[in-house]
Amino acid sequence: MIIAQVSDTHIARRAADADRRAGDLERTIADINALDPPADVIIHSGDIVHNGDREDYARAAAILREARVPVYVAAGNRDDRESLRQAFSPWACPVASPGFLDYAVEDFPVRLIAVDTVSPDSNKGEFSPEHARRLIELLDADTTKPVAVFMHHPPFVVTVGPDPLNFVTAEAMARLQRTLEYCGRVAAVFCGHVHRSTGGRIGEIAAMVTPCTATSLRKGYYPPHIHTLPVYHLHRFDLAGAFATEARIVAATGTDDAAKGAIHESGRISEAFPATTGDLRAG
Ligand SMILES: [Fe+2]
Repeated sequence: MIIAQVSDTHIARRAADADRRAGDLERTIADINALDPPADVIIHSGDIVHNGDREDYARAAAILREARVPVYVAAGNRDDRESLRQAFSPWACPVASPGFLDYAVEDFPVRLIAVDTVSPDSNKGEFSPEHARRLIELLDADTTKPVAVFMHHPPFVVTVGPDPLNFVTAEAMARLQRTLEYCGRVAAVFCGHVHRSTGGRIGEIAAMVTPCTATSLRKGYYPPHIHTLPVYHLHRFDLAGAFATEARIVAATGTDDAAKGAIHESGRISEAFPATTGDLRAG
């Protein structure tokens, strides 16, 4: 099973770089559509739009509908739950009523569970006892298959960013970590939010952060010839029961003058991102 992950697209039609942000997502989806072997599913780990705007969700949804495989989305701190749900339910966010946007997808060898970590009054993540109850209910709904969890905020200490804690309190993050670990079936956690490639662990569970799909907002070091090229993650689940993650660079196009001649083939695996290159295995 191959999961393609995009994140932090921050679609915003009033932004100075509005077309660049939308174009980054369009080119990323086109690249995923051309994968051989194909991805089985695309997950978007939140901050789909920048200001929760309905028209921006419509644009993001139109782009994501071009995907040739199913798409599932999680909410980020920049998202508006109800506007997101109305744009993406049920096809990419199978939640029937307003409120939390957490759900499970049962169509694959690995279950997918989207966790809603949005706080009503902070850019950081929230995970209350009610969140834990809901996640346990989702985890317990099927005890036969491994699980990949995706959420916006990384539930581990992020050492490469300006703020190592991405939850409102250390207690909230610890509650989430305990909940992820309790059932023993979570193979990996896929996140966004910090706009840069990084990874960590929650006990034996591997956790990865996909860089920001919007190239103008991406953090971390990228060589100049890659500045305009989106990077996304592919997570391959293998027979040993673990995910191997690799970073994939979207091919340069005719508009990427600086990149032409530097990138010779579509999606060359980057050796510039040691945090995401190579295997990172869950136990
Ligand atoms: Fe973001």
